[in-house]
Amino acid sequence: MTDRPKRLRRCQLSVPGSSEKMMTKAAGLDVDYVFLDLEDAVAPQEKRPARKKIIDALNNLDFGKTTRCVRINDLTTEYAAEDIMEIMEGAGENLDVIMLTKCMGPDDITFCDKLMSQMEKKLKMTKKIGLETLIEEVEAMQRVDEIAAASPRLEALIFGMGDYSASQGVSTKDIGGESGYPGDIWHYQRQKMTIAARVNKIDAIDGPFAKFSNPDAFREECRRSMILGMVGKWAIHPSQVEIAQEVFSPTQDEVDRARRMRAAFDEAVSQGLGAAQFEGSMIDIASMRIVDRIVDRADMIGM
Ligand code: COA
Ligand code: MG
Repeated sequence: MTDRPKRLRRCQLSVPGSSEKMMTKAAGLDVDYVFLDLEDAVAPQEKRPARKKIIDALNNLDFGKTTRCVRINDLTTEYAAEDIMEIMEGAGENLDVIMLTKCMGPDDITFCDKLMSQMEKKLKMTKKIGLETLIEEVEAMQRVDEIAAASPRLEALIFGMGDYSASQGVSTKDIGGESGYPGDIWHYQRQKMTIAARVNKIDAIDGPFAKFSNPDAFREECRRSMILGMVGKWAIHPSQVEIAQEVFSPTQDEVDRARRMRAAFDEAVSQGLGAAQFEGSMIDIASMRIVDRIVDRADMIGM
């Protein structure tokens, strides 16, 4: 058991850390989660200046209830450790989570965890900063169970299909679904990563969908990952935020029904029964596991 904070991640908006304009825009959006990027959205010559811009944004913009994350460069670069140290030192408690890229195995998680613990000590922080990681290399997918279990600080795994395609050698034609491959090319990876996350009681998140001019295709990708148990998807453009947050929320009807079902079951238990009838179907403790998940999500969303 850990005391991981509960956070909504129905949508994680990616915002280039080199763009003050986009960070300002992101702060004003009604989105569960933003991550200010130091990795691929930032050109090499902008990496160091972007740290300063991100620190300014975290310290001076009002993100409201939105979770504030910074995505760092991977551990093979010369930037990663300094990314963690400078961002934590500069933003302190105005930062909520650090996101690791191109994780290769559980050691990468341990490294970040230890460095973050050192910084928390140095800065005398009372708040613990969260950690999450992309799963975007075949090495990480192969060891995803160990990665998911590597640290109580780890809160989420994200399937990054862009880099992952390159890593596995998936043909780019397949990514658009144009190859005629029978089935969803990401079915196995999403299942595998989601199971690893759920075993460790952390969130499974689906990565980006680049063609932001096609909202219907984006919605379908959200729906597929939601059905498998993922709790959110990235947005790379503000127009994707509302779609993701809608698909990853239960409907009001589902929530009302779940609460009625919970009440009916509690009533049955108080009468010494393990199974009961609810609107023409049998309900038991197994049904309550699903129901409680919906109620829990609804409470977090404020429905
Ligand atoms: N976060 C915050 N604001 C964003 C945004 C983002 N990810 N993407 C676009 N915007 C803003 C724009 O600045 C613009 O603001 P304005 O109305 O105040 O001028 C508005 O949303 C509409 O943007 P639009 O003109 O449609 O797109 P664009 O050409 O400005 O940007 C991209 C298109 C793809 C360059 C941009 O969306 C982007 O950089 N996305 C993130 C990329 C990224 O993070 N990649 C790494 C992770 S996969
Ligand atoms: Mg990547």
